[in-house]
Amino acid sequence: MMRPAAPSDLGAIMALERASFPTDAWSETMMREELASTHAHYVVMEEAGRVVGYGGVRAARGLPDADIQTLALDPQVRGRGQGRALLRALVGHARDSGAKKVFLEVRADNSVAHSLYVSEGFGELGRRPRYYQPDGVDAIVMALDLRTWAPQGEAAPTPAEGGRGPREGASG
Ligand SMILES: CC(C)(COP(=O)(O)OP(=O)(O)OC[C@H]1O[C@@H](n2cnc3c(N)ncnc32)[C@H](O)[C@@H]1OP(=O)(O)O)[C@@H](O)C(=O)NCCC(=O)NCCS
Repeated sequence: MMRPAAPSDLGAIMALERASFPTDAWSETMMREELASTHAHYVVMEEAGRVVGYGGVRAARGLPDADIQTLALDPQVRGRGQGRALLRALVGHARDSGAKKVFLEVRADNSVAHSLYVSEGFGELGRRPRYYQPDGVDAIVMALDLRTWAPQGEAAPTPAEGGRGPREGASG
């Protein structure tokens, strides 16, 4: 089951964060601020009353660009489609907030996450050399065009629904 994250999920989320990102986990302070941010939307996945995954997206209403902030699952529940379900919930929230594009960064050595993003339609924009410290691993910057994104079970947007012509604004 997926539900919006609550402040009381902080401890469970931090346990998953530290297990998933051993060398570059966010601090508890940073995660608490993220969960409280009005521009961020965090969800948790629960199984048998236990938090086994979480993810967050920044998508401010009226802005064309959204950012996937993080996404992680308990190692015991990986590889069962739950990561894709979480990603789709975050991307769906961005779309519902009016975003036209979703951006994210992924470690160049994270082939599992990278192939998830590619299979969901994200394309590579470029690299930030040695972005992840202390490991010195590049970040791959990826983007998804929401005007053509169609999660399983939904029809792809037609040009009339999906917006056409130039984007408003000029944010890149
Ligand atoms: C990345 C992560 C969220 C993916 O979630 P998941 O539940 O394991 O993945 P899913 O079962 O939904 O699979 C989605 C896709 O990921 C890829 N994938 C999943 N497991 C894989 C594996 N063992 N090897 C290679 N690719 C794999 C595949 O492309 C898969 O699509 P497919 O099932 O159509 O082949 C999860 O592995 C995780 O928490 N990893 C550690 C934290 C992390 O790296 N977060 C992302 C930071 S950018």
